Amino acid sequence: AVQKASNIVWHEGSVSKKDRERFLGQKGVVVWFTGLSGSGKSTVAREVEARLLKLGCLSYVLDGDNIRFGLNNNLGFSPEDRAENIRRVSHVARLFADAGIITLTAFISPYRADREAARALLGPGEFIEIYVRCSLEECEKRDAKGLYKKARAGEIKEFTGISAPYEEPLSPELVLETERETPQESAEKVIRFLADRGIIS
Ligand code: PPS
Repeated sequence: AVQKASNIVWHEGSVSKKDRERFLGQKGVVVWFTGLSGSGKSTVAREVEARLLKLGCLSYVLDGDNIRFGLNNNLGFSPEDRAENIRRVSHVARLFADAGIITLTAFISPYRADREAARALLGPGEFIEIYVRCSLEECEKRDAKGLYKKARAGEIKEFTGISAPYEEPLSPELVLETERETPQESAEKVIRFLADRGIIS
């Protein structure tokens, strides 16, 4: 996007991210789920959110469909609009993480460059890319929203996996195999990862 803002100064308060993290007893990070439509991004993210709450940790899910109802309701699914969608969302996620919250994002985010730009906004270890791997065949079989059927019929243009690309992560922090794992098993893998990295204790 074109930078139009000028004469602006970043303002730092006297309360730091570290202070907020100490207060909450966790680290503010972005857990970035990426994968095809119907791969299970939102399902696993919601399961992780519920488990974290039980463990006494504050998290929040930013979800593709929901964000597109409000903040990003002026964006479609062209490569440019997806890039802008992910750009805005990654800044929102960065702010949430700065607040000390374990921020779970569930967007297809099909372009590597957009995901790498999101990663670049965070500090070392603060961006955790999770590839929610599931074959197109299986996603199409599930077709929970009936969108694949519409895409095959040509009723939805530029549909990821059918008529628009999905670029697989090259070195994600974690891969979930949702074709053979239950959402509970996948969520458990995420929780274990967060504990191993000292993000939750
Ligand atoms: S992206 O690519 O990251 O900007 O997409 P995202 O914001 O995650 O939105 C994906 C959800 O939008 C619905 N939808 C489509 N997906 C892919 N391609 C096209 N053309 C499309 N049109 C609508 C669909 O419900 C996606 O939801 P999920 O949860 O991924 O199934």
